[in-house]
Amino acid sequence: METDAGVVETRSSSPGVEAAGPTPAVPVPLVTPSPRPTAGAAGAAGATGSTEAALALEAQGLCLWYGSHQALFEISTSIQRNWITAIIGPSGCGKSSLLRCFNRMNDLYPPIRYDGALRFHGQDVLRPGVDLVDLRRRVGMVFQRANPFPMSIFDNVAYGPRLQGTRGKGKLEAVVELALKRAALWNEVKDRLGRSALGLSGGQQQRLCIARALAVEPEVLLLDEPASALDPTATAKIEELILEIKATVTVAIVTHNMQQAARISDRTVFLLSGRLVEEGPTKGLFTQPRERLTEDYITGRFG
Ligand SMILES: Nc1ncnc2c1ncn2[C@@H]1O[C@H](COP(=O)(O)OP(=O)(O)OP(=O)(O)O)[C@@H](O)[C@H]1O
Ligand SMILES: [Mg+2]
Repeated sequence: METDAGVVETRSSSPGVEAAGPTPAVPVPLVTPSPRPTAGAAGAAGATGSTEAALALEAQGLCLWYGSHQALFEISTSIQRNWITAIIGPSGCGKSSLLRCFNRMNDLYPPIRYDGALRFHGQDVLRPGVDLVDLRRRVGMVFQRANPFPMSIFDNVAYGPRLQGTRGKGKLEAVVELALKRAALWNEVKDRLGRSALGLSGGQQQRLCIARALAVEPEVLLLDEPASALDPTATAKIEELILEIKATVTVAIVTHNMQQAARISDRTVFLLSGRLVEEGPTKGLFTQPRERLTEDYITGRFG
């Protein structure tokens, strides 16, 4: 339901349903953008500040309520194409909530309400009737806890492509191999693709989940603390693969690990109590933060 001032309310009685929220008979498709610039081109644009062409997602005055509880206040920020954006802040500040706005995953926790604007390649994704299945394919997500499906490694990765209509053993095998290679897991599992995914280690399971997300060729990948449950070796593998896929996928990553944010991200967004305190190139934000609150947080004075 759309109310005054563009506020979008969603009330689904069935959390967990993929396309929660008001769904008209024919969902409104999102237009495919012009070809993405190369990583180098995007980087060059971003180095001097963001340009319209380099934006994947853009929030303006974005607010979010869970019932009567307001979790996000007037957030204005952007996610640049082919960049890695880190979202940091203390527990409960709204990092996951912001990430879940980008593909409308918050709609799975009704009643929720958005206000403000959120655009994906310039198109309003908060308007009623947006094709949420298409949005979530194009803006994929990986969660803190690896959640492989109770099926084989192969079937986990082939799940999305099959749903999209990819048929034929050869075609599916090629898609699965490519996704597993991009997720840096191929060499470890190529001889046991038919075995249960639940038999993999925690770090392998998380890379499998990333492979599963990559298999449907998302344009943006949202990662919510993907390595927080992993040991340093498994964490390093996840970080390496994020840096590898950056050339073709835009990444937004929530992390509590300051070193991780500093190591892998191009841009950092700092949230506190549902508000954006500071954002900018990662190096600058960590070495010369503009805001006292940012400095206090990154130096460990709170949070
Ligand atoms: N599904 C939900 N229903 C109701 N309230 C929620 C829901 N998810 C989050 N919240 C509330 O929104 C606020 C922000 O929570 P969120 O999970 O986004 O924080 P976070 O920064 O990701 O925290 P953490 O670092 O602990 O994961 C909190 O007050 C939380 O209680
Ligand atoms: Mg969270």
